Amino acid sequence: MNSPTKNRNIRQRMNAWLLNQADRIMDRVYGARKRAIFSQLPQTVVEIGPGAGANLRYYAPRTRVIAIEPNRALHPALTERARRYGLDLEIHPIRGENIDLPDQSAPAVVGSLVLCSVSDPDRVLSEVRRILAPGGRYLFIEHVAAMPGTPLRGIQQQLRTLWRWLFDGCHLNRDTHLAIQHAGFARVDMDCFTLQSSWLPFAPHIFGWALNG
Ligand SMILES: C[S@@+](CC[C@H](N)C(=O)[O-])C[C@H]1O[C@@H](n2cnc3c(N)ncnc32)[C@H](O)[C@@H]1O
Repeated sequence: MNSPTKNRNIRQRMNAWLLNQADRIMDRVYGARKRAIFSQLPQTVVEIGPGAGANLRYYAPRTRVIAIEPNRALHPALTERARRYGLDLEIHPIRGENIDLPDQSAPAVVGSLVLCSVSDPDRVLSEVRRILAPGGRYLFIEHVAAMPGTPLRGIQQQLRTLWRWLFDGCHLNRDTHLAIQHAGFARVDMDCFTLQSSWLPFAPHIFGWALNG
């Protein structure tokens, strides 16, 4: 194995460990909002980049979860959490840019803190629209770039390269809110919020849903 690939694998394993440890904190930070938007999910859900399974506790028992998760180091934690919450999990070890599911086959798609990490967010959003059934919803919660011209945006710019390297490709300064608004959904219902520790470089967030026409 060459050394860039080896380094990448080590960082992927490190991030898998971090995501696993962060589960309780994430529930404290995002739990109420996730419960609000995930409460009406259908029996089958496609989740893009579920990581260690931070969202699984919010799905109704026996929900069929199709997980699009390329980092294999996360699969054991994901499998264990699905078992704990009584879910029917199917892992596809692929990227969200090329999803191996038929057109219009998914009643709902979920993504949390994932469009910051994918290589091509527009391509992932186009795949989300392709697989969503007519009238299906894409539910999202994402950290985003701070407003242009703010000190936090400057900090995001400064930190972006190191951050991307440390956190397995995570981009601090993506205008994900614009990408979702311009992805061609029939309707988008989006709210913004900032983490209590508003100085954190990933403090600005969006959450909501988008409806496939
Ligand atoms: C910051 S973690 C978030 C994990 C989880 N969704 C959560 O809320 O805790 C980003 C996740 O996206 C996954 N990911 C990275 N690139 C991806 C891609 N191209 N397609 C799908 N998932 C991807 C990573 O493996 C990781 O699980």
